[in-house]
Amino acid sequence: MESITAVKGFKDVLPPETDKWRQIEMTAHEVFSTFGFKEIRIPLIEKTELFCRSIGETTDIVEKEMYTFIDRGEESLTLRPEATASVIRAYLEHALHAAEAVTKLYTIGPMFRRERPQKGRYRQFHQIDAEILGPDDPRTDAELILMLIHFLGKLGLRNLNLEINSLGCAQCRPAFREAIISFLRGREEDLCGDCRRRLSANPLRVFDCKVETCAEIVALAPLLPDFLCGECRGHFEKVQACLSLFDRPFRLNAKMVRGLDYYTRTTFEVTSEFLGAQNAVVGGGRYDHLVRDLGGPDIAGIGFAIGFERLAAMIPQGVADAAVQGPVLFIAALGERALETAFLLCNRLRMKSIRVEMDHTGRSLKSQMKRADKLKSRYTLILGDREISGNKAVLRTMQTSTQEEIGLDCLEETIIELAR
Ligand code: HAM
Repeated sequence: MESITAVKGFKDVLPPETDKWRQIEMTAHEVFSTFGFKEIRIPLIEKTELFCRSIGETTDIVEKEMYTFIDRGEESLTLRPEATASVIRAYLEHALHAAEAVTKLYTIGPMFRRERPQKGRYRQFHQIDAEILGPDDPRTDAELILMLIHFLGKLGLRNLNLEINSLGCAQCRPAFREAIISFLRGREEDLCGDCRRRLSANPLRVFDCKVETCAEIVALAPLLPDFLCGECRGHFEKVQACLSLFDRPFRLNAKMVRGLDYYTRTTFEVTSEFLGAQNAVVGGGRYDHLVRDLGGPDIAGIGFAIGFERLAAMIPQGVADAAVQGPVLFIAALGERALETAFLLCNRLRMKSIRVEMDHTGRSLKSQMKRADKLKSRYTLILGDREISGNKAVLRTMQTSTQEEIGLDCLEETIIELAR
């Protein structure tokens, strides 16, 4: 019978890769809580409208990439393509804004986008997402970016590129919109079908287009930072000054518009050449009207999402291996009585949180010793029916290959002592 494989673009994460993932998650919990963030867990499925209203109807994500279905003929639901919209939905639904003026939330989990799979791009991928709701001052932007850089640094990633831009606000966008529309109108026949359609609906999205001729046109287009109003310019300059205050190098990238409609003012990405074509490991930015657009009060926000798979690909497996410990003890039991005694001892030690392994099949001593070695056990206890009759067992220290006899009566205490 033909075997069933995973769905295209959906991948398994296997050990020891999962050790690395856990290490990354633990570092995120530790660093984010130091910066005052609390974890939030949100559903994988939301009403489709949530993403249409937040990410934007004319973005690639909403137009082409969402997994949307009608639930039993009742309502349109979507597997979340990102976390920000869901975090805001939960923030409003549970009136978290009423409880405190500043809310810092983070979440880790799978997202779904029906993109063309390739190295570093999947249809189910994971994000580490952090959001700050409340303040709109530039120091908050810098604080969030500094947390991100600190987190990446803790994972050993130091030479990454930080690119920043400002997308302005409702004041400065109209002038830019006009300039870009009149620039693109003159070149309309050279644009792809999608861009022609987006030209009047959402001209900023032309910057996202991957078609070569569109990219060539966009390379000469007017740039948003040249249209910033006084307040946005001041805000952006202050973000840069703060980053410099902390000696955090960055590059200005006036063409970075990000692929989601909700952004205002500061946007940023972290990239690495190491990743090849899909080089963005982090994307983020400010969204000062999203909470209002989703039906809440006028509360500002800023956040980022780290692509888990891309992050993990940059971290050598050895980093996680060092943190993963093998068992303290492997019990090699030979014979029926020995197997039973070993099983009892194994369970008693595990109840005391000591990592113990054994083999229930009573295979040869040689193959059991091989397994103990493979598991990187610190000690191996050799227990045969003969040893049990003599009320003793042999304890082998794996690193030095030395062994000694120990009495069965004090076995448990000895192992507990060794495990300390
Ligand atoms: P985004 O740029 O769409 O932003 O995604 C953030 C990161 O998720 C990307 O930089 C990339 O590392 C990873 N990523 C995205 N799509 C894929 C994929 N198909 N396969 C693998 N990795 C992928 C957002 O999602 C915003 N919600 C970020 C944000 C939070 N802005 C404010 N708050």
